[in-house]
Parts: sequence; structure tokens; C-alpha cells
Amino acid sequence: MKLSTATLIAFAAGAIGAPADFVVPRQAPGGCSSAVKLDASTNVWTSYTLHPNSFYKEEVEAAASQMSEPDATKARKVGDIGTFLWADTIANIARIEPALQGVPCNHIFGLVVYDLPGRDCAAKASNGELPVGAIDRYKTEYIDKLAALIKKYPNTAFALVIEPDSLPNLVTNANVAACQQSAAGYREGVAYALKTLNLPNVVQYIDAGHGGWLGWNDNLKPGAEELASAYKNAGSPSQFRGFATNVAGWNQWDAEPGEFASHPDAQYNKAQNEKKYVELFGAALATAGMPNHAIVDTGRSGKPGGRLEWGDWCNVIDSGFGRRPSSSTGSTLADAFVWVKPGGESDGTSDSSAVRYDSFCGKADAFKPSPEAGQWNQAFFEMLLKNANPAF
Ligand code: GLC
Repeated sequence: MKLSTATLIAFAAGAIGAPADFVVPRQAPGGCSSAVKLDASTNVWTSYTLHPNSFYKEEVEAAASQMSEPDATKARKVGDIGTFLWADTIANIARIEPALQGVPCNHIFGLVVYDLPGRDCAAKASNGELPVGAIDRYKTEYIDKLAALIKKYPNTAFALVIEPDSLPNLVTNANVAACQQSAAGYREGVAYALKTLNLPNVVQYIDAGHGGWLGWNDNLKPGAEELASAYKNAGSPSQFRGFATNVAGWNQWDAEPGEFASHPDAQYNKAQNEKKYVELFGAALATAGMPNHAIVDTGRSGKPGGRLEWGDWCNVIDSGFGRRPSSSTGSTLADAFVWVKPGGESDGTSDSSAVRYDSFCGKADAFKPSPEAGQWNQAFFEMLLKNANPAF
């Protein structure tokens, strides 16, 4: 039986009695034909591809439309790379649902959970909307809303990166007053996020900074214990898989001996590349009693050499798009290379008069001018494309 579109609409609206053998197709929001159940004891990235989300694709399309050939064509290819979407404010949760339409069954949707009260306590560029103490708003207006949305899409797989920089800051910036004030809320908030977002179609990774942060000999153990207690305080969630490294970072995956290995203080840090960091921190996590598999953000690590110091994090000049998302990492602890930071979105403003101006964004190795964190920087995007390795 061939049915016209008009007839189908009439069936769906109930205006015509459907013949017994005719089932009105459910409005397909994408995803699989049945509920997704991810097994966090396995590497899900071997069967799922990171989804190129439409939000980033639109940013990239807009960027490409300002470019001439042959670069515009190359630029458009960037939009086809799987990238995480950042839910960086309560209002920006609204960006997620449109991007969930039409996600194929073999894709996994990457989402960054990033709105803790007193966010970015050791810096200024990404200070968030919720003040220290607003933990109830974080729970009810942010995490609960994300959980409801993920439950609404049971047939879609989600990978979560939980709260970049938060717990690492508690480990290494305990002397910063804002971090002391934020600490209780970070711990409670991260545990609540893990517990509430422990849903069958989710796999969770908690942020662990990078090798130049928690990779120092003296930071490995306290770092692992801080993360492991969040996991345990959340009730050891079944969908928890491990940690995310190099989020919005610049470190090389397996460069030898490592970009900063000749610095005098390198003797105190054996995690001179992210591969080593994953293995060293992964071992510390196992000792601390936490699942210890990792995903690594390789989105902007295509060209080393831009940073003056290992800890420089803001809009690093002369950087390039890096390794593409893949589960072929060559390390049993590293589940996948992923793109977490959307390349082209700024790390922080270079306008020294802005409230969220951080001096790192004014350093000699920071790209200028740069807009507020999260805003599009066309010139920076074009630089990443030019320096991409592999090339586009
Ligand atoms: C920064 C910003 C945030 C943005 C994210 C991704 O951390 O603070 O607003 O969503 O980067 O670009």
C-alpha cells in the first residue's frame, strides 16, 4: 500500500482510522530503535563514533563562509569531526536538544557538564554564572535538567566529561582563597552530577587536568584520591568509566621526550606527554580505588612549541588542530582520542579591561585579540586549520 504524505499526516493526527496492518511510525528523533545500554566496564568507543554536533558544525559553517577557496572547503571538513558540546550555563542547556536530532545509532553524543558554583576558581576567564554557595541551584536548575534531557533520549548514547578543572584546582590551588571557598560546593556538586547522571545510556569521565598539572610526582596521589572520593561519594556509579585529560589543553599525546622535558623541573614530573600521564595517573587511580580508563582531548595539540610555559592555557599562538577522534590509541588505559574543546571558541578575553580578563590571556604566547571565553575567534580558527596535523 502506497500512502501519500497527506494521508500519513491524517493517520498520525487520528483523522483516518489506520488499517490494522499499518503502524504510524514514531516521530524519529534519531538514535537507535531501542534503548541504549552502555557497558562502562568496556571501551564503548570501539563501537561508537563521537558525534559531530550540529552546534559546532554551524559555527564552522559560518566561519567557512567568510573564507575563500581552497581554505573554505578545508574548513568545512572540520565541522564533520566529532566534538563535545559544552553545557556551560543553565540557559545553554537549550543548545543540546536541537543537536540531538538525527544522531545515528552508532554515534555517541559528547557533552561537557560545566557550571559548578564558583567555577574556574584559580582563574578568571571562565568564571561562571553561579556564585559560591548556589549548590541547590546547580542541582535543581542544572544537573536535574540535564538528567531529564538525557532520559528523554534513551535511544541515544552519551559520553560525559564532568566539570573540567574543578577537582584538579582543589588539589593544586588550595592556597587560592576562591578555591578554598569553592571546595565544598565542587565536591558536593561533582558527586551529585555523577550520581544523578548515572543513566544506562551514559558513560562518565571526570576531568583530571593534564600531565603538567596533576602529573607532578607530588600531585599524583592526592589528585587520584580527590577524584576517587568524588566517585565513592557518588555511590560508585555503574556508568562511570574513568577520567578525561588535556581538556582544552595543548599537550602532545606521545611526543618523546616531551615538549617540556628539558626544563630544569622536569625531573619532578614523569608525565612528560599525555600517554605517560594516562598511565601514571591511571595507576594512582587504581590504587585509590577508582575506575581508571581515560579519554584524551587531542583537538588542539597538532602543533607543539607555542607555549612558553607548560601551564600556559589561554589561546596558545601557533597551535593547530590535532589527532582526530579515534579509539586506536595504542594504550589499553586510553579509550579514545576525542575533541572536547571546540577549536575556534576562545579560552578567554585578551581585553585587559574586561571583568573576566585573566593575565594568562595577555601573555606573549596568547593570541590577541581574543574574545570572551566560549566566543568564536575567526582568526584563531583559521590558524588552527592552517597548522592542523594531520592536515585537512
Ligand atoms: C570555556 C568557556 C565556556 C565554553 C567552553 C568551550 O571554558 O568558559 O563558556 O563553553 O570554553 O569553548
